[in-house]
Amino acid sequence: MKVKVILSVLLLLALSTGYGEANSIRSCHSCQGINCQRTELSQEQKCVDSLDYCVAIYDKSQVLYKGCSLEIPSQLRNRCDSPNDASCFKCNTDRCNNVGSAKYACVQCNSSEDTNCAENATSLKPAVCTAPTASNSYCFVKASASGSNIERGCATTVIDQQSCLKDANCLLCSPGDVRGCNSVNIVVDSNAGKSFIRFLR
Ligand SMILES: *[C@@H]1O[C@H](CO)[C@@H](O)[C@H](O)[C@H]1NC(C)=O
Ligand SMILES: *[C@@H]1O[C@H](CO)[C@@H](O)[C@H](O)[C@H]1NC(C)=O
Repeated sequence: MKVKVILSVLLLLALSTGYGEANSIRSCHSCQGINCQRTELSQEQKCVDSLDYCVAIYDKSQVLYKGCSLEIPSQLRNRCDSPNDASCFKCNTDRCNNVGSAKYACVQCNSSEDTNCAENATSLKPAVCTAPTASNSYCFVKASASGSNIERGCATTVIDQQSCLKDANCLLCSPGDVRGCNSVNIVVDSNAGKSFIRFLR
């Protein structure tokens, strides 16, 4: 009985002092400046301070920095000082900072799994995208060639964006202006060679 009490007191102490946390050094996705736009340079950083956490810093949708909070370059530091600055994302689990800016959210669904995806996508909640490597972040809506399947999601790499632009059945839109911009209904006219009018807004 006594041992049990002592053990639980020790456990409480360990939890409240963050002792358990201190044993695990945080790992964060890491990049700076132009390297955040290079898909082939996917790097990680182990934070020096065991109480540090991960951040991602944006300019609009473009990622300027990913890494440990104590190693933010001085010219970007002030963005993370204010708790309400959406250009600095903070999180506290390993590699949690591969996340795009909260403002850049897209409806993400597949009509093969969710019937609302095809023509009732305004009922679906837009979700934040993974961190873009392209300088702009877009949402897409794409139909299969037959028009029977609709997919909606984020186009965060230059390759994704180019392939959507080349695809007559794919539309891109900018989520910065309209939240969940890719929830629009699209009409597939399989008789017209090019099914959709592409738009960027
Ligand atoms: C969506 O569903 C279709 C049909 O099942 C499948 O071919 C496609 O890969 C799915 N797309 C995603 C992103 O899961
Ligand atoms: C669209 O989705 C909402 C929420 O799930 C649902 O209540 C509504 O009935 C749906 N409308 C259609 C036309 O399927």
